[in-house]
Formats: sequence, C-alpha cells, structure tokens
Amino acid sequence: MNHPSPLAEIVSTGRYLPDCVVTNDDLAKRMDTSDEWIASRTGIRSRRIAGPEVNAAIMGAGAARAAMDEAGVDPGEVDILILSTATPDRWLPSTACDAQALLGCGNAVAFDLMAACSGFLYALSMAEGYLCTGRGEVALVVSTEKMSAIVDWEDRATCVLFGDGAGAAVVRPANGSSRGILASHLRSDGHLANLLYRPSGGTVEPMDADVLERRSHLIRMEGREVFKNAVRSMAEASDIALRRAGLTAADVDLMVPHQANFRIIEATAKYSGIPMDRVYVNLDRFGNMSSASIPVALDEAREQGLIGDGSIVLSAAFGAGLTWGAMVWRF
Ligand code: ACO
Repeated sequence: MNHPSPLAEIVSTGRYLPDCVVTNDDLAKRMDTSDEWIASRTGIRSRRIAGPEVNAAIMGAGAARAAMDEAGVDPGEVDILILSTATPDRWLPSTACDAQALLGCGNAVAFDLMAACSGFLYALSMAEGYLCTGRGEVALVVSTEKMSAIVDWEDRATCVLFGDGAGAAVVRPANGSSRGILASHLRSDGHLANLLYRPSGGTVEPMDADVLERRSHLIRMEGREVFKNAVRSMAEASDIALRRAGLTAADVDLMVPHQANFRIIEATAKYSGIPMDRVYVNLDRFGNMSSASIPVALDEAREQGLIGDGSIVLSAAFGAGLTWGAMVWRF
C-alpha cells in the first residue's frame, strides 16, 4: 500500500498535570451527585484541579519543557509556538506570549489558537503548514486548559466532566522520513455554536454585575446534542483521514481519541471498527481536559510503550464551535 509522504513529524511529547486530585466522592461532598452517576455515564472517576497560583501558561510551559527536553531542543531554536486553549489566562495578550516568556523561546512567533477540544489537531495542522513551506525548522505545539476556571461549579451536569492539564509536542519537517502526519481531516460548524459555549463575558455581553449574577460567563452545554454530534463527527472524520492515508482500521495500532466521555469513545471506536483494546483511555483519571486531552494521552501512551517506532496512530477530536477532526500519524 502506498502512503502519502509526510510533511512534518512529532519528534517528542510532554505533559503537565496539577498535583491536586479531586475524586467523584470529593465532588459528592460539595454538590448533589455521586461516584455512581458520574462514573456510569461518563467513565470519569477523578480529575486534576490547578490551584490559584497555577495558570494555563504555567501548565503549558511545563508540558513544553518536557517535550523540548526529550527532543533536545533549546528554547532559542523554536521558530513557532502555537498554543491552543479555551481558557486563556487573560484576554490580552495571548497565553502563547506568556508561555513564550516563561520558556525563553525568544525567536518564536507565538500565538493562541482557539478550537476548543479539537485545538491540538488544529494546531498540529497549522504547524505542519508552517514547517512544510520552509518558514521554520522547529514548531512547538502546546495545549493547555484550566477548565476549572470556566465551568459553573453550581451546574452539576457540566462541572463534573472537566479537569485541568497541559500537553505539548515538538514538531519538525519530515525531510523525507516515512514518519509523521500521514493525513488529516478538520472541520467546523458555527451554526451549532450554542450547544457548548460561554454566553457572556466577551464583547457581545461584557462582564457586569448582571452577568455575574446569572453566571452566564461560564460554560453552558446541551449534553445530549453534544453527545450525538460528537460520535457522528469523530467517526466520519476518522474514516476520511484513514482513507486519505491509504489505510484502514485494521492498520491502526492505537487510537488516541479526545477524552470527553467513555461512551462517546466506545461508540466512535465501534463505528470506526477499532476494538477497545487498541484505544487509549485516561479520562477515568483526568476527565475532559479539552484540547490537552489528546497530547497528554499521546505522551502517556508513548511512555508506556504502546506507541513505538512505526506505530500507526489515529486521533479524533470534537469540541465547541462546533469543531472536529481526525489525524493519522506514523511514529
Ligand atoms: N449527578 C447526578 N445527577 C445528575 C448530574 C450529576 N452530576 N448531572 C445531571 N444529573 C441529573 C439531571 O438533573 C437529570 O435529572 P432529572 O431526570 O431528574 O431531570 C438526570 O441526571 C439526567 O440528566 P441528563 O443531562 O439528561 O443526563 P445524560 O444521560 O444526558 O448525561 C451527560 C449527561 C453525561 C453530560 C451526557 O449528556 C454527555 O456526556 N454528553 C456529552 C457531553 C460532553 O462530553 N461534552 C464535552 C464534549 S466537547 C468538549 O470536550 C468540550
């Protein structure tokens, strides 16, 4: 089977997870919920929560340092730093610039990319385009999310789903190697924005006492609709990306999906024809870390030897926007 020639490859990964573990039982002490309800509907048993002193830039820089150390890349060598987040530390400047300052990547162009849970795949695709047109040799892709700062802790249907953390990857031009991004398929549909959003706090409805009172600056979600769209979109995107790579589900050594809900992952894997023993799951420990979920899972899977030389890995993501997509790599 002929595979397309990759243009860029992930040469290393890293992760940062806050120390504080909050279990479902811990949540049940603060709100009307239970481990049984959360675990049976989502598969989540605990999540990490960052303290007030740990922001998205700090977590992202932590993950980036680990990836740069593995790749042996010095901060000054980074040409582009793309940081995906749905939880920027401030509205201005970008969290990418704050992370750049922490890392000392003084030669990098740094900017934020907002594509919610699909952010890591979107950012990798942007890095691939930048590198393959000869504008740099080293891209740093960072996905960092302090979801605990934007969930409504009075809305038990959403706050139990999310957690904090960051993942990162160093990306280089493939330079003729057979390793790298084999294919991808990314999409968005703004007509479905209100299924998962923060109604207020931006320029449309700026923060004021009324917004605070209504708590409308925090996440609102139509859980069931999101669920249905997630399965359909991730399964279709996976099919298309695999087809573009000239591969089938049987070629996939490991699927590393976005970690939103175990039932979404199971349904997507089933539709795609990938058995669950070839699907990486860590949402039981970390919950949904939005765009950080995939790079954290990739980093863990590489560390555990589940991804080795030549492994074919499929990733699929879905999130607010709506945004979704899939990517196939050879490692
Ligand atoms: N504990 C106990 N009971 C709860 C909780 C809770 N934490 N949350 C809701 N309930 C109750 C509701 O009040 C409701 O009670 P009622 O029947 O008396 O009114 C009942 O449980 C059922 O509520 P539903 O919202 O209908 O529950 P559902 O079975 O749809 O499950 C869930 C909700 C888990 C959120 C599901 O819809 C889901 O996973 N959707 C996908 C959401 C998701 O993954 N979003 C993120 C993806 S995109 C991204 O990653 C940003």
